[in-house]
Amino acid sequence: MRLLIDHGGRPSPGGSLGEPGFPTLLLTPDPGNARGVYAGTLSSNVVDDPPAVMVFARVAAHPPSWMRRPDPDDTQGEVMTAPRAFVLGHPIAHSRSPMLHGYWLERYGIAGSYEPVDVAPADLGAFFGSFRETGWTGGNVTVPHKLAVIEHLDRIDEAAAKLGAVNTIWWEDGRLVGGNTDWTGFLGNLDELAPGWDRDAERAVVLGAGGAARAAAYALGERGLSVALCNRTASTAEELAAHFGGGMTGHPMDAVAGLLAEADLLVNTTSLGMLGKPPLDVDLSSLKPGATVYDVVYVPLETGLLKAARARGHRTVDGLGMLLHQAVDGFRHWFGQTPEVTRELRSLLIDDIRAKTPGA
Ligand code: ATR
Repeated sequence: MRLLIDHGGRPSPGGSLGEPGFPTLLLTPDPGNARGVYAGTLSSNVVDDPPAVMVFARVAAHPPSWMRRPDPDDTQGEVMTAPRAFVLGHPIAHSRSPMLHGYWLERYGIAGSYEPVDVAPADLGAFFGSFRETGWTGGNVTVPHKLAVIEHLDRIDEAAAKLGAVNTIWWEDGRLVGGNTDWTGFLGNLDELAPGWDRDAERAVVLGAGGAARAAAYALGERGLSVALCNRTASTAEELAAHFGGGMTGHPMDAVAGLLAEADLLVNTTSLGMLGKPPLDVDLSSLKPGATVYDVVYVPLETGLLKAARARGHRTVDGLGMLLHQAVDGFRHWFGQTPEVTRELRSLLIDDIRAKTPGA
């Protein structure tokens, strides 16, 4: 429903749920001088002139970020509806993000939406050309657009700049901002499943040098660990290490065994060990006792690497939580609520993976 809401002659953005003439939840960030979210009665379907609404009670002290006006210069008839977020990719039908954000929208009783949007690379400019007009609150970005979206944004955050990829978009003071939450997702999962893992941790070995390795290496660097990147193509690992600096090093795969003796954390970011891919062949016998082993692969949930690590008494972390935790910041930006990664949500995703992936 498109609405204008009038407060003492000043139109304010707002939205409403329910029938005109009946008590309803009226959502507006700026009724009169106070800020907040107000419940009221909608006295008419206010697209006519002048709009009229009776506001009678404040129900929350602060409006969520999606209720803030995207364009500070536009004071004439800005129209806000329930927040609408997207996951943008090509193809996109396989994405589990709608399930995950849909769970949180329902859990917190938020009248918003999160939709998959399939946009081919050639149509990306048109998508952003009509972004404001379409009323998007923001969204997630996935393959193949994580780099290409950057030129359509007003600003990107430090992590997105360092990782060369945007996976989350939101409005901030009327500007469209791109960020990267893969690294916070990586850490959120590790902190949840292996609490205290970084107490006295100094060194990590990261296998791989692709997008997931970038997020992992950046995250571990932010926590102050020195990172040894090992990759089939050693030159890619060396280039990545040079890009990040700060004592990060690049190595061929045959250096792994020697590096493990000093490692407090081993992370696999390659696709090896994933269902349908060759197994990851790493000998853990030299791995430092007490080290944590993290596999970003989550189909199967317990990969051969994690099984072998568990058998040797190491703490293990699977990759599903990285998907869950990377979604937290986006949800907070768009819907104004920091969502919780619950056991129930994890089970929902596991059931979906099992239902759709024979052999998982
Ligand atoms: P993502 O963005 O998900 O990290 P990616 O960019 O395709 O995926 O990276 C995959 C990683 O797995 C790379 O480090 C790749 O090594 P190369 O740089 O040598 O290609 C690694 N990888 C994939 N298949 C592999 C294999 N059969 N043996 C060893 N490493 C492999």
